[in-house]
Amino acid sequence: MDILSINIPTIQNITYIIASVLFITGIKMLGKESTAVKGNFLSALAMFIAVAITCIGIVNPLLLFSGIIIGAIVGSIIALKVKMTSIPEMVALFNGFGGLATFLIAWSEFNNNPESFFQSALVMITLAIGGITFTGSLVAYGKLSEKLKIAKTSFITKIFTTIFYIALAFLCYSIFVTPFIVQSFEFFTILIILVLLGGIGFVLPIGGGDMPVVISLLNSFSGIAAAFAGLLLFNNVLIVAGSLVGASGLILTVIMAKAMNRSIGNILFVGYASSGTSATSEEQGEINPISVSDAYLILENASSVLIVPGYGMAVAQAQHTVRELGELLEENGTEVKYGIHPVAGRMPGHMNVLLAEANVSYDVLAEPDDVNPTMDVVDVAVVIGANDVVNPSATEEPGSPIYGMPIIEVHNAKTVFVLKRSMSSGFAGVQNPLFFKSNTRMLFGDAKESISGLVSEFKD
Ligand code: TAP
Repeated sequence: MDILSINIPTIQNITYIIASVLFITGIKMLGKESTAVKGNFLSALAMFIAVAITCIGIVNPLLLFSGIIIGAIVGSIIALKVKMTSIPEMVALFNGFGGLATFLIAWSEFNNNPESFFQSALVMITLAIGGITFTGSLVAYGKLSEKLKIAKTSFITKIFTTIFYIALAFLCYSIFVTPFIVQSFEFFTILIILVLLGGIGFVLPIGGGDMPVVISLLNSFSGIAAAFAGLLLFNNVLIVAGSLVGASGLILTVIMAKAMNRSIGNILFVGYASSGTSATSEEQGEINPISVSDAYLILENASSVLIVPGYGMAVAQAQHTVRELGELLEENGTEVKYGIHPVAGRMPGHMNVLLAEANVSYDVLAEPDDVNPTMDVVDVAVVIGANDVVNPSATEEPGSPIYGMPIIEVHNAKTVFVLKRSMSSGFAGVQNPLFFKSNTRMLFGDAKESISGLVSEFKD
């Protein structure tokens, strides 16, 4: 029995190292589409091993297994029911639950009376990052699902954002000035309230178009909070897994911010400083609708076509029909490329995932920097349910909320087809002058139905 109790922590630590290696290998494999599925499996296996080995020697296995079973059931039901277009909201909620878990760990560690300065500081930092991640993610969920509609420049937003800064100041004060005061219940309670309200104030001032960056930042926060919780609990695998999530989330945040041509500081703090005078372009003018049969005649004679998918393609689930159209065009001697904007859709890589599911070759996918310089030789740019990512206001209208975001400059193509159901705006809520340009033709209707119509014309 003695030998067993001495060896369990050693066995656990060795297993944690194996799980960590699997995590790192799995994440590396996610970088290439050919190895991504295996990488995902390896990471899931690593998580299973880490959880299983942690269960050994646990004081209250019944409580632990109840938690695992309830979590697994709730998680599976949500994951099975969620629509592809709602994945970002689900990711936001899951980030929030990660934050809540670390917040609760820090709270329980507070009740164990941290004795050293280091332990006390760790409790407060973990509590703050976990709490901010939790409530911030709930706000992000509300914004993404369009259930929460509080303007980023409203008075309420400014109050909550002020609380966020007060929470940060209070946290620094408690760590650096009076580390042991945290052991007073009143002081700790104030910190809890401030960080929970501060999390709301962290996300409220961030504009709709910037939500992709915030989601990946909150994802990174949930990892950092887990790493701190790992330090608190002396749990190596939590430190490694948390650091991996934290670091990869930060890298993704920087990539997303770069894709929007914004600095992270600008995204996080400009909303707070803004006076609320952001201009929205309300350009009016003539639009030129086109029918499926007329669009077919133009496409049939095109030698180069650029397909630009967006969120509407995901809503319509039109990816398979789009691939079919692409193949028919190629059979007709047309050069076909797909212009993929990094923030098209509602999650990083959204368009790549959909097109991969439809077996579109990665070789024909191109980024904005690759397609923009040669846009003037493209005969037809077919915009399928994309709006913000092709909005010329981003380059032409300094007052626009999306000004500065790189776009796919389809307006420079010889002809543009825009496939959407109405004249409504995209995620950022701004009018799109592309629809009124003389070389644009609006093909109204559900994207899948319109593309199916074009496919039928080609087949006939
Ligand atoms: P959006 O600007 O959101 O435009 C999507 C368009 O699709 C809408 O104008 C809508 O117009 C059309 N649409 C919807 N359902 C359709 C259907 N069944 N058939 C045809 N059209 C349909 O999309 P985008 O250009 O992909 O830009 C993405 C936006 O989301 C950006 O502002 C980005 O910052 C933001 N965002 C991105 C992410 C990530 S990580 N990708 C995460 C959160 C937010 P109708 O209603 O008139 O059809």
